[in-house]
Amino acid sequence: MTSARSIVSLLPKTCADKDAWNKIISQHKEFRLQSLIIAPHAYSSSYECESRFEWNVWENRLKNPDASTFVAFDSKVAQSAEELKQHKLLEQSWSGMLVLVGPSERAMTSDYSTSISTERKQHDYVCNTFFDFRLNAMFIISEARRSGLGMALIEAAIAHGKTTSEDRGITSTRFTAFVNRENHAAICLYQKAGFKVITEKEDTGVGVDRYARGKPTTLMEMWI
Ligand SMILES: CC(C)(COP(=O)(O)OP(=O)(O)OC[C@H]1O[C@@H](n2cnc3c(N)ncnc32)[C@H](O)[C@@H]1OP(=O)(O)O)[C@@H](O)C(=O)NCCC(=O)NCCS
Repeated sequence: MTSARSIVSLLPKTCADKDAWNKIISQHKEFRLQSLIIAPHAYSSSYECESRFEWNVWENRLKNPDASTFVAFDSKVAQSAEELKQHKLLEQSWSGMLVLVGPSERAMTSDYSTSISTERKQHDYVCNTFFDFRLNAMFIISEARRSGLGMALIEAAIAHGKTTSEDRGITSTRFTAFVNRENHAAICLYQKAGFKVITEKEDTGVGVDRYARGKPTTLMEMWI
């Protein structure tokens, strides 16, 4: 259940006002780097790596058509959702962030169908394709934790993915997250949101396992 205190905004992919756009990029960069410093165990990337990124890397992250960046505010501080969305994105400090990557259109194979209910398998046999989204880079500042912001971000990302799928006539959608196996808080949060643990991977340094580099991870997924 989303807390009444949480407000979530989707960051724009561009902005006609150059100053405002540069501020959004800068705020996004600072927030991400802060997350890598405070919770290095939670991510496959590192502060040492990302602090060297050029400006255009940060700008392209926001412009990326396959990545949607959500930020959360504590409504104890913010005035109203509408005010925030329209005017105050840059005037309030961000309390949380989550990136939704996708969709990738995938063909239904036995790899993907192992965790799906029989009813959904029969349906997917007809549809044969689904959209795949990844939830990445979630971070809530320490003083705002346990007030529902993480859940509000996940709910906003899933609603966005669902709408994207529906708009394109796709009826099956998968959401995944790779979580450090020792990250009890994140695993509990995703489970509460409806995700299930699918596999546990050790680092092999290739392909999808790059998310596990040096950190054993749990793959979690949810289908809608
Ligand atoms: C994990 C994290 C995102 C949780 O954010 P949050 O805003 O505190 O989570 P919420 O307040 O929405 O919590 C919702 C539910 O998740 C679970 N949860 C959250 N934090 C938890 C914790 N420390 N221990 C156990 N369960 C926890 C609980 O079920 C909670 O519901 P409850 O408060 O009613 O018991 C936050 O702790 C964080 O940013 N950690 C560092 C970065 C990180 O680990 N990112 C995840 C990368 S995969």
